[in-house]
Amino acid sequence: MKFFVDTADVDAIAELNALGMVDGVTTNPSLIMKSGRDILEVTKEICEMVDGPVSAEVVATEADDMIAEGRKLAKIADNIAVKVPLTWAGLKACKTLSDEGNMVNVTLCFSANQALLAAKAGATFISPFIGRLDDLNLDGLDLIEDIRTIYDNYDFETQILAASIRTANHMSEVAKIGADVATAPPSVIKNMANHVLTDKGLDAFLQDWAKTGQKIL
Ligand code: E4P
Repeated sequence: MKFFVDTADVDAIAELNALGMVDGVTTNPSLIMKSGRDILEVTKEICEMVDGPVSAEVVATEADDMIAEGRKLAKIADNIAVKVPLTWAGLKACKTLSDEGNMVNVTLCFSANQALLAAKAGATFISPFIGRLDDLNLDGLDLIEDIRTIYDNYDFETQILAASIRTANHMSEVAKIGADVATAPPSVIKNMANHVLTDKGLDAFLQDWAKTGQKIL
């Protein structure tokens, strides 16, 4: 499973990228706002740091305007994936932008039917939002499973990009289901390294080591 980082924070991206953990980046208007940076400038910087796809989201709501914004965003770098919302207008924009040779990430997906339409419209990535479904006491992981089944039944090439990931457990769960990509905030990716038994075991080893009076270096 590929790891995308869900942030526009270049320092956080750089830290994970140095460990080989960044296969791509996803941003959205809220993350750009949080960064306090200009969208074109920060997206260009991220594209230069990362080899994989960098999602940059349109903010227009009509198809023609989305297409115009998408074309402008796509000019930032070769590794831009234009992100469009899963509305009827967004599907039209997806079809046009992908026919023009751009990577397209269809975002804000909350149902299997929406994912089916995005695949038909030529999406490179579909972004089902797990956490926002869980917030409503629905099961975001069920959605990933349903989309995996449907895409596999018909050999759709659209990649499932599990999004709105809130916990480290979400990462292993979507990996088990077979999501192609998971995008998560840097804090969640770092949290995947934590285990209370690792901390406890290390503590015991270090206490015993101190008793030996030895040094390695
Ligand atoms: C994905 O591309 C979105 O940017 C993101 O995963 C949304 O996550 P949130 O629901 O935690 O805002």
